[in-house]
Amino acid sequence: MDDTDTVLGWVAVAPVSARAVYAGVVEHSVYVDPAARGRGVGRALLHQVIASTEAAGIWTIQSGVFPENTASLALHATCGFRVVGVRERIGRHAAHGNRWRDVVFIERRSPHL
Ligand SMILES: CC(C)(COP(=O)(O)OP(=O)(O)OC[C@H]1O[C@@H](n2cnc3c(N)ncnc32)[C@H](O)[C@@H]1OP(=O)(O)O)[C@@H](O)C(=O)NCCC(=O)NCCS
Repeated sequence: MDDTDTVLGWVAVAPVSARAVYAGVVEHSVYVDPAARGRGVGRALLHQVIASTEAAGIWTIQSGVFPENTASLALHATCGFRVVGVRERIGRHAAHGNRWRDVVFIERRSPHL
């Protein structure tokens, strides 16, 4: 939020599995209002979710990013995420005529846990 109580963006995580062996693995999403982009909001949200999940014992954060989201890929790279690979035709985009979409799979393994 800014000083006018306007929500500028959000970040959320969810567990990837109910299995105990993956108890420290979450998937995240981060989104910043287009009008608020390029001002450090996305970086602040990512830093916050990395710190809070590490404090909660989470060892890996993962996500999927569309290849054209170069800002997102650059931001995540500077926050310690690596590209695991490209998942081919993993998504189907209803808003774009049910087009099959490749997704770049990224993850950040905590260096502290
Ligand atoms: C990705 C997103 C969260 C970035 O938010 P933001 O508030 O604009 O990002 P910041 O201002 O904190 O910028 C952080 C870094 O992102 C990168 N970046 C931001 N905008 C960029 C652009 N237009 N082109 C290339 N890199 C860009 C830069 O590395 C930047 O660091 P720098 O300022 O030191 O150069 C935002 O663009 C967004 O919501 N995109 C749509 C949703 C999305 O792709 N979510 C990710 C899927 S999980």
